[in-house]
Amino acid sequence: MPRALITGVTGQDGSYLTELLLGLGYEVHGLIRRASTFNTDRIDHLYQDPHAPDARLFLHFADLTDGTGLRQVLEEVQPHEVYNLGAQSHVAVSFKQPEYTADVDGLGTLRLLEAIRDVQGRTSDVIRLYQAGTSEMFGGSPPPQSETTPFYPRSPYGAAKVMAHHLVVNYREAYGLHMSNGILFNHESERRGETFVTRKITRAATRIKLGLQEVLYLGNLDAERDWGHAEDYVRAMHLMLQQDEPDDYVIATGESHTVRAFVERVFAALELDWERYVRIDPRYHRPTEVDALRGDARKATERLGWTPVVGVDELVRRMVANDLELAHQERTLRDAGHVVAPRGLASA
Ligand code: NAP
Ligand code: GDD
Repeated sequence: MPRALITGVTGQDGSYLTELLLGLGYEVHGLIRRASTFNTDRIDHLYQDPHAPDARLFLHFADLTDGTGLRQVLEEVQPHEVYNLGAQSHVAVSFKQPEYTADVDGLGTLRLLEAIRDVQGRTSDVIRLYQAGTSEMFGGSPPPQSETTPFYPRSPYGAAKVMAHHLVVNYREAYGLHMSNGILFNHESERRGETFVTRKITRAATRIKLGLQEVLYLGNLDAERDWGHAEDYVRAMHLMLQQDEPDDYVIATGESHTVRAFVERVFAALELDWERYVRIDPRYHRPTEVDALRGDARKATERLGWTPVVGVDELVRRMVANDLELAHQERTLRDAGHVVAPRGLASA
């Protein structure tokens, strides 16, 4: 039975990748971080009692800032494939916590690569690695961006991911390890963190529709992004590790839209005039912005046979439907006299 280890298993992508790999017959091991509140919401539906004879999902406490723990888990699990999805993944937060972001996203990757090199060196069993790279690495380089576009990161997050990218290339060349970089453009979903702009918009617009919220504060509406659905993007991660040779691939839809256009689409789907509800709050502006991202994923199409299924209209439809249901639940509770607030309200 193939065995995979996923860092960031509790994140948006980690949850979809876990579903995909379990469906393909893998045994899946995920790293989780100790938190004072539960942080496994996205994978709770996949949980199996590890004592059950047919259990195939196992969780381990570890952290990318703790190399010893990473090594121990690798030794114990002996995975065939490692997916390094763990990261401080919020661009705006990376300006507030640059050192921490570099530690987790840059050095954390190095810790993992070193652990893989050691374990593989001792056992001679090949461990393939997927590194979660990002279009934020292109930053200021104009679109369309492909594997040959120069990196020009515009945030500590982007810079840390560039470090990780180059380390993966170096470990591949220096030690002959099977390590691939995915350079993924923005991908969203019904499970997207609520402080990323698409989900912030769909959550707010659906709450406004049901009279639970009055205003949506946003930052730069002119930024352009190439938005796909996370379910499509985790398929690409898996495909990369099934190739004979490791390589780097851009994963994108090839279409971009402004944040304003995304807002318009979402509010229109709810028959609302967005201009009545959206205000600009400069606190959401970034010290340096990535103005335009639009990916050229032809290499992935040609070599991996990968194409996205969900376009932006279907993405909006799915996210709005999901969040409208959440808003209805909140409305029902409120109408029954319960004091409720959406989860994570204080960090939005
Ligand atoms: P996400 O929802 O923010 O999930 C991040 C995951 O990383 C969570 O499981 C989180 O754990 C974990 N994590 C954070 N700090 C960690 C640490 N110190 N040690 C171990 N794990 C840690 O991100 P995502 O959207 O799924 O993205 C997955 C990966 O792809 C990230 O590396 C991201 O940078 C990259 N990426 C994302 C996109 C996108 O558009 N979604 C595009 C390109 C690249 P907790 O749940 O405990 O916080
Ligand atoms: N988060 C947020 N909140 N973004 C806003 C807001 C707001 O209120 N208002 C405008 N924006 C703009 C941001 O300035 C940015 O230009 C754009 O919306 C998208 O922001 P995010 O959704 O936070 O995503 P991101 O593009 O910065 O980063 C995401 O995609 C990267 C891939 O390109 C993250 O998932 C990264 O982890 C990922 O690497």
